[in-house]
Amino acid sequence: MEYKGIIFDLDGVICFTDKYHYMAWKEMADEIGVYFDEKINNRLRGVSRMASLDIILEKSEKEYSADEKEILASKKNQIYKELLLKMTPNDLSDEVKETLDALKADGHKLAIGSSSKNAKLILKQIGLDGYFDAISDGTNITHSKPHPEVFLKAAEYLGLKPEECLVTEDAVAGIDAASTGGFSSAGIGEAALYEKTTYPLQTFSDLLKI
Ligand code: BG6
Ligand code: MG
Repeated sequence: MEYKGIIFDLDGVICFTDKYHYMAWKEMADEIGVYFDEKINNRLRGVSRMASLDIILEKSEKEYSADEKEILASKKNQIYKELLLKMTPNDLSDEVKETLDALKADGHKLAIGSSSKNAKLILKQIGLDGYFDAISDGTNITHSKPHPEVFLKAAEYLGLKPEECLVTEDAVAGIDAASTGGFSSAGIGEAALYEKTTYPLQTFSDLLKI
């Protein structure tokens, strides 16, 4: 492929932590009696923790104060982190690992572009600590996707221009972020069906066909 750098979203692209986000939010929502399902969960993909909570609370009759929201978000994060701590390198699929290795061997620079503040913990759990050339995540941004900041920072850390990089995403918000930032994109899952996605992928290893 022509791109010098490839920037990967983490949750739902490199590993299936999107399932754990759902499980943790569902437990929190059930506790406060707020309706939450997989369809609403799809709107949380790529969106920051606090913005995700606001989307969930759209279904609540009660208004929550900023302090109460902090408590709810940290409760969700606690449940989520307990699930993350159970992850091992077995949670990284052979397909993903072999594709990353092939891209790396082909001379591409690889980066993470994730809205999550737990990105480094997840990478450690699945055995990818130190694997990527750069990590841009929820700890170095002020605007989450669909704002392009997380990808612009990743490209900057790689020393590349947006047009030299390909963003790989599972979220519509992530494809919007890539497009606004001037990046081409590869989309899997829901993002493969989105009209703004440059390369729809059926499976992760299709990256090798670009
Ligand atoms: C993104 C997920 O990667 O990270 C979102 O797609 C999540 O669902 C966001 O809300 C923030 O994650 P965290 O780990 O900082 O709560
Ligand atoms: Mg994602």
